[in-house]
Amino acid sequence: QGLHRLMVNAGKLYFGTAIETNNFNDRPYRAIADNPDEFGMYVPENSQKWEAIQPRQGVFSFDAADSVARLAKTNGQLFRCHTLTWHSQLPPFVQNGTWTRATLTAVLTAHITSVVTHYKSLCYAWDVVNEALAENGTLRASVFSQILGPSFLPLSFSVAGAADPSAKLYYNDFNLETTPAKAAGALRIVQQIQAAAAPIHGIGFQAHFRVGQTPNRTALVTLQNRFVALGLETSFTELDVAHLTLPANATAVARQATDYVGVVQACLDVPRCVGIVVWQFTDKYSWIPNTFPGLGDACLFDRDFKPKPAYTAVASVLAAA
Ligand code: G3I
Repeated sequence: QGLHRLMVNAGKLYFGTAIETNNFNDRPYRAIADNPDEFGMYVPENSQKWEAIQPRQGVFSFDAADSVARLAKTNGQLFRCHTLTWHSQLPPFVQNGTWTRATLTAVLTAHITSVVTHYKSLCYAWDVVNEALAENGTLRASVFSQILGPSFLPLSFSVAGAADPSAKLYYNDFNLETTPAKAAGALRIVQQIQAAAAPIHGIGFQAHFRVGQTPNRTALVTLQNRFVALGLETSFTELDVAHLTLPANATAVARQATDYVGVVQACLDVPRCVGIVVWQFTDKYSWIPNTFPGLGDACLFDRDFKPKPAYTAVASVLAAA
């Protein structure tokens, strides 16, 4: 039936995938990605990031991300937008600029306003702030935290909300699922944004997991509910489960399936979990081997676009829901 169709039948909004415009000419890739029963939401893997979309001050390059938005529309898929305020993949003019509070506030405000306005009413959600936390739950050192202090958080959400009142505004981060101090930091961020009367609607758990080290269903339900208690919806926004040893043996392949299933069940268990996005669906294009050499094969489909046991397991859990 396809994962998205099954997910919708189970009462959720989407099962989506990250999509990379560099791979658009790969026909077998497109055949799966463009099937709206399989993936009901596209998230641009890189093309909406600051270095891609405003590489020089005042110079915007929307073409790649526009092509993703167009394709999502043609396919009848939702579009999830990623990301606005992030310390990584910044263009040199931001990373190396000599900023004061006033000038960086102006540049950040202009960036968010321009990009959110360009995609106004097209984005189901925006990852407004991405990965602002260090592992110990304090703010990560970045150009934003160093020049603006914590005020860059409510600022980003207010500016995004003013530019597109219809988009759900998310705080998105990794390791919230495995690192209690970091989850506590994310709860503080949400409360700080709310205390400043800025809009925030969702928490994105990136869910970059490893086989055998994936938090279980119960832990993921408890974690989500702490954010639901603050009024937020939840989503697993970048799910993958990397093998630690390649090629994976049969035990690890089965464990990967179990790990994926636990995450899917944790979304099904929480009414305010709206859906799941995988961070690429084929091992052919996963980011993991580039960043963590030796790890990988983290996706639901293999390099030859064959569904893996994890795919079959997820599909049958959804079909039974
Ligand atoms: O597009 C250029 C290409 O022109 C050039 O020839 C090539 C040579 O290295 O690089 C290409 O850019 C790469 C880009 O991906 C597109 O493929 C960058 O080097 C590479 O660094 C970049 O990696 C991305 C990474 O974010 C950067 O931080 C990954 O694809 C992307 O999956 C990853 O995504 C992040 C999320 O945004 C946030 N959460 C974590 C997640 C995984 O790191």
